[in-house]
Amino acid sequence: MKSAHALNMGAPTPGALSASDPAALLAAVLQANAGTANTRLKQVMDALIRHLHALALEVDLSPAELDQALDFLVRVGQASGPQKNEGILLADILGLATLVQLRGAREALAQGGTEPALVGPFWRANQPVRACGENIALADTPGAPLHVRGRVLSLTGVPLVDARVETWQASPQGLYENQDPHQQDMNLRGVFLTDGQGRFDFHSVRPAGYPVPVDGPCGELLAAQGRGVMRPAHLHFIVVAAGHKVLATQFFDIEDPHAHKDVVFGAVGSLLRRFEPDGRGGFSLDLELRLERGETVLPHCPLP
Ligand SMILES: [Fe+2]
Repeated sequence: MKSAHALNMGAPTPGALSASDPAALLAAVLQANAGTANTRLKQVMDALIRHLHALALEVDLSPAELDQALDFLVRVGQASGPQKNEGILLADILGLATLVQLRGAREALAQGGTEPALVGPFWRANQPVRACGENIALADTPGAPLHVRGRVLSLTGVPLVDARVETWQASPQGLYENQDPHQQDMNLRGVFLTDGQGRFDFHSVRPAGYPVPVDGPCGELLAAQGRGVMRPAHLHFIVVAAGHKVLATQFFDIEDPHAHKDVVFGAVGSLLRRFEPDGRGGFSLDLELRLERGETVLPHCPLP
């Protein structure tokens, strides 16, 4: 039997990483990424590795806490399926999705473009095309009347004719029609085409806010953070005009109690609006939607 001395126990093996040298470990992991052929992937992975190592050092992450974090990510995947994407919800409640979207639009925003907001999980393909002035609140939808009038313009103020304006919203009970057996199919949804002056308008009812889904690991995280789970009342829009980038946005009711506490941080800047009383118990909302020139690429539609 060899002695401990013969096995050289406790002495560093030549070329091995030192357990007390995190900088050397980080350098080794970055070196392992150095051969990544896709230069963008290499850049993103380099940054991810650096930030993850820095995070672990900053909070002195324990093995048990790492296990807990990895279990959380596994459960985010397990909670996702065709009707629900917990990964998107995680990016939303961390503000990451809003950050990326606003950053992607920074050139348009600098020129007066309309602020974007998340498409969210409730946009449906094949929403009904309606004539301007029609009501998207189908028969027996309760709620205060809302008249939405808008114009679609280029960044230089030129009206965009025949632009396609898709809208959808929750009911005054805070439910989209596909969540609510009491609403007709495609209730509170519509597609409108702008006229020769870039104008559109439609009637509806004033929407209510609603909670994000909290039955998965994101709900556990929000509870642990002591956070609210509500989105302020809003209307969604996707605007498509030839020769222009697609604008996905939302306009929020500034009088909603959660107007400044949107759980996904989407209610930013000029997207918070006052629904003006019309003196007859209803409200009006006037919008200007300014689109940046560029390639027209529709976002992914999450629902049939
Ligand atoms: Fe929504």
